Amino acid sequence: MKTLIINGQNHQGSTYHIGKELADKIGGETKEFFLPKDFGEFCLGCTSCFTKGEDTCLHYEKLKPIVDALDEADVVILTSPVYVMHSTGSMKAFLDHLGYRWMVHRPEEKMFKKQGVCISTAAGAGMKSTNKDMADSLFNWGIAKIYKYGMAVAATSWEDVSEKKMAKIHKDMDRLAADIKSNNGNVKPGIKLKAWFMLCRFIQKNGYNPKDMEYWKHKGWTEGNRPWKA
Ligand SMILES: Cc1cc2nc3c(=O)[nH]c(=O)nc-3n(C[C@H](O)[C@H](O)[C@H](O)COP(=O)(O)O)c2cc1C
Repeated sequence: MKTLIINGQNHQGSTYHIGKELADKIGGETKEFFLPKDFGEFCLGCTSCFTKGEDTCLHYEKLKPIVDALDEADVVILTSPVYVMHSTGSMKAFLDHLGYRWMVHRPEEKMFKKQGVCISTAAGAGMKSTNKDMADSLFNWGIAKIYKYGMAVAATSWEDVSEKKMAKIHKDMDRLAADIKSNNGNVKPGIKLKAWFMLCRFIQKNGYNPKDMEYWKHKGWTEGNRPWKA
């Protein structure tokens, strides 16, 4: 089983440690990236990924190792500390670069069999909105099963997290890892994701971006083919 962790921060604080604990408990092979260390570019807004292809992005080569790891993984863990009620700027800058993979454009069919996890920690509040920042992308990439875990650690470093909270985190990660392991290889998109796919299929049938329309047609999705059946 392959797990990919994309950390929205360079440092190894509470958020990192929870994500790493989960990956360790899942077992198998783990790959980690840290943002912005491993990818720190901002989207330039040229929109050429949408209209001409992702390989025309100026940051394509820098982004490629993460995208390749994403395609190979069974489980994708995104982590971010809460910064002013949302994900870190580094995480957002990374996610912007994958806009071309959103359902309304060119989702990758491999995503429809994967599990995704969003993990955030805050001193007090903002985990829900931060996890949503990341889950919106996982959902729109087509990730079949998404888990969200937020913890108000009441601390600014892992060392300062109380024993009581630490015990809860360990227990929660045991349970989450067990769920992920038992679902591995069996995940199927739910009704919400399938409905969103079907709506986007309708949009592509009467589309506005030739690059996207051609992609959907080539995949056979505008006909009877479906990415979760591939
Ligand atoms: C720039 C910045 C903004 C923050 N904004 C919030 C916030 O909106 N709400 C909150 O509860 N904590 C906030 N915090 C605190 C962190 O989210 C919290 O300490 C978190 O657990 C840190 O995770 P880490 O140990 O992985 O860095 C902020 C911290 C920083 C550095």
